[in-house]
Amino acid sequence: PLMHNAAYRAMGLRARYQLFEGEHPEKTLALIRDGGIRGVSVTLPFKEAVLPLLDEVAPDALHVGSVNTVTNVDGRLRGDNTDWTGLARDLRGRVDIRGKTVAVVGAGGAARAAVYAVQQEGGIPVVVNRTRTRGETLAGRFGCSFLPLPEIGSLCADGLINTTPVGMMPRVDESPVDRSVLCRLGWVADIVYNPPATTLLREAAGQGCKAIDGIGMFVNQGAEQIRIWTGQAAPMERMRWVVEEALNQRSEVASQRSEVGGRSEGR
Ligand code: ATR
Repeated sequence: PLMHNAAYRAMGLRARYQLFEGEHPEKTLALIRDGGIRGVSVTLPFKEAVLPLLDEVAPDALHVGSVNTVTNVDGRLRGDNTDWTGLARDLRGRVDIRGKTVAVVGAGGAARAAVYAVQQEGGIPVVVNRTRTRGETLAGRFGCSFLPLPEIGSLCADGLINTTPVGMMPRVDESPVDRSVLCRLGWVADIVYNPPATTLLREAAGQGCKAIDGIGMFVNQGAEQIRIWTGQAAPMERMRWVVEEALNQRSEVASQRSEVGGRSEGR
């Protein structure tokens, strides 16, 4: 909400984005349709469940198999997926994907968006996952190869995208990938954006890789939602600044808390 509302203010629009917690997607979508709400972002665990409930789903969202954006067009609800476009746009111009092999770590909804993004940008994705069946299913769906996570040592790739939650606050010391494989990669991107400098990215930078944090993808997916809902370009620099400020404040609060905890433990 902070990012969206800052964007609407900067755009001079009388729009408000607020959190809405609903347990039943059918009821929530009926409220959106009847309440004249222009659009909603759909978050976990409803990104797949909303698909059959919409009047129309964009072909790319159908392909990815999830919807993160719903738009109310005169009472008809349309689903889009801006997770994959957010990632593709963020990577474009920063790294060269065309004809290159890119490892996608994970096999959930975020991995589907990443595999699709890599393919759309002309790259060759390789799915790397802890659970073989899930990884093979995803690889089969997109016609790409699969490598079990424990065998990542044999990976031959130009780049790597982490789509697992490993390294996310509060377990910030964890990395989904052993450090030893990083020196063979040109770049590493992490969809985790809290913290922005994950252990994976810090280790990748230490091995000479280009490290791409998750804030750019997050801002890009939100900017595309704003474009879909308003027809106008979103103020991306302002959005990025707001997100970074909020994350900085949170990490300051977290480190103050751990300092207090550390002191009391020492007593
Ligand atoms: P999302 O839809 O947001 O991508 P998800 O469906 O829960 O979320 O998928 C998360 C992915 O992260 C899964 O592929 C999961 O691996 P498994 O298929 O083996 O469950 C992966 N993941 C989560 N925690 C992990 C960990 N500690 N190490 C390795 N992979 C992990």
